[in-house]
Amino acid sequence: MDKLVAWIDRRYPMSKLWNEHLAEYYAPKNFNFWYFFGSLALVVLVIQILSGIFLTMNYKPDAEMAFASVEYIMRDVEWGWLIRYMHSTGASLFFVVIYLHMFRGLMYGSYRSPRELLWVIGMFLYLALMAEAFMGYLLPWGQMSFWGAQVIISLFGAIPFVGDSLALWIRGDFVIADATLNRFFAFHVILVPLILVMLVAVHIIALHEVGSNNPDGVEIKKNKNADGIPVDGIPFHPYYSVKDIVGVVVFLMVFSMIVFFAPEFGGWFLEKDNFIPADPLKTPEHIVPLWYFTPFYAILRAVPDKFLGVVAMGGAIAVLFILPWLDRSPVKSMRYKGPLFKIATFIFVISFIALGYLGTQPATELFTDMARLFSILYFAYFLLMPFYSAIDKTKPVPDRVTFKAH
Ligand code: HEM
Repeated sequence: MDKLVAWIDRRYPMSKLWNEHLAEYYAPKNFNFWYFFGSLALVVLVIQILSGIFLTMNYKPDAEMAFASVEYIMRDVEWGWLIRYMHSTGASLFFVVIYLHMFRGLMYGSYRSPRELLWVIGMFLYLALMAEAFMGYLLPWGQMSFWGAQVIISLFGAIPFVGDSLALWIRGDFVIADATLNRFFAFHVILVPLILVMLVAVHIIALHEVGSNNPDGVEIKKNKNADGIPVDGIPFHPYYSVKDIVGVVVFLMVFSMIVFFAPEFGGWFLEKDNFIPADPLKTPEHIVPLWYFTPFYAILRAVPDKFLGVVAMGGAIAVLFILPWLDRSPVKSMRYKGPLFKIATFIFVISFIALGYLGTQPATELFTDMARLFSILYFAYFLLMPFYSAIDKTKPVPDRVTFKAH
């Protein structure tokens, strides 16, 4: 075995990569529950790619056949139902994992220097993930696939001057049609997954360049022993590889429970309307995207003007890109931030969840007013951050990470 490794090492930096990224990658010793979600995002990505490959073997990207081919997968293909439910459940759980992953970054200030670029790469991953989910949703060619895509693509039509031509160019036809389905299929199965995998590699390289943050927001690289190893660091492998397996097992239990007992998840993961074949002549009563898009959909609907609504929706995502430059607090972690930041974050979380709920509901007068209020609070969190984070009363940050051995 040693000889084989040496043979490979002379031709390819296998041991070097293993050591740099696992056995000798020193991570802070105080990681907690919130640090499960990065590795879980990787696991879900693998689940999506594998189940996706098997779905592609029987799915037909053809407006005449797409819906029926999905039903065929569900009823006739051996274990087809399992593969499809794994893919649809994986899509929703991907967003659950990513939202928790992003929230961890928000709590511990992981977006702050020197990790700004890591955060920005993460945001590109988030954008790619949204594009992937949006295009995948058209493929079953159900009512909500068709009309959801119709609504979202028509938003491009609101852009002055070029809007209509742009929407036409994206669809490849005057309405959502076979051409749209074919191109979305191509993007969904190859282009965007390729981008996702490459971005994940770039994300991990950036992370390993600067080193992980931790719940205390203390830079462990500032305190090294005589051998140049951070005194508060432990090798990723075996310590965190083993810890992450615990997370993966628990995650797979939750995942299996949903796949086997509640794959539609009460309409949240698979919508009722999408069990009806797409009908260009019949608009569903309520057109709503799946839950992971509804906070932004609520912001879009909260603005009376269509174009400004699109701007607000885009702005709600864009503002996350500049987060590293909005936070002026002298400390990173929420543990040592003051009451203003904590209250602001609490209001932000409530607003995001409320917008997510309102986005699923019919736009009545009351709900629209509420969506307006929560949209303002959403933006206020970010745009006022330079002020409240600067004047907030923070607590002293310890020199070393806080850690109690169990
Ligand atoms: C497919 C999507 C993603 C994958 C597979 C992924 C994977 C990972 C992994 C494995 C880690 C190290 C383990 C950990 O700290 O949990 C990590 C760290 C990190 N990720 Fe991601 N990530 C993804 C998306 C994102 C997004 C959308 C953001 C934010 C916009 C983000 C921001 C970060 C940050 C700031 C860190 C460092 C956190 C710290 O050290 O405290 N990631 N990511």
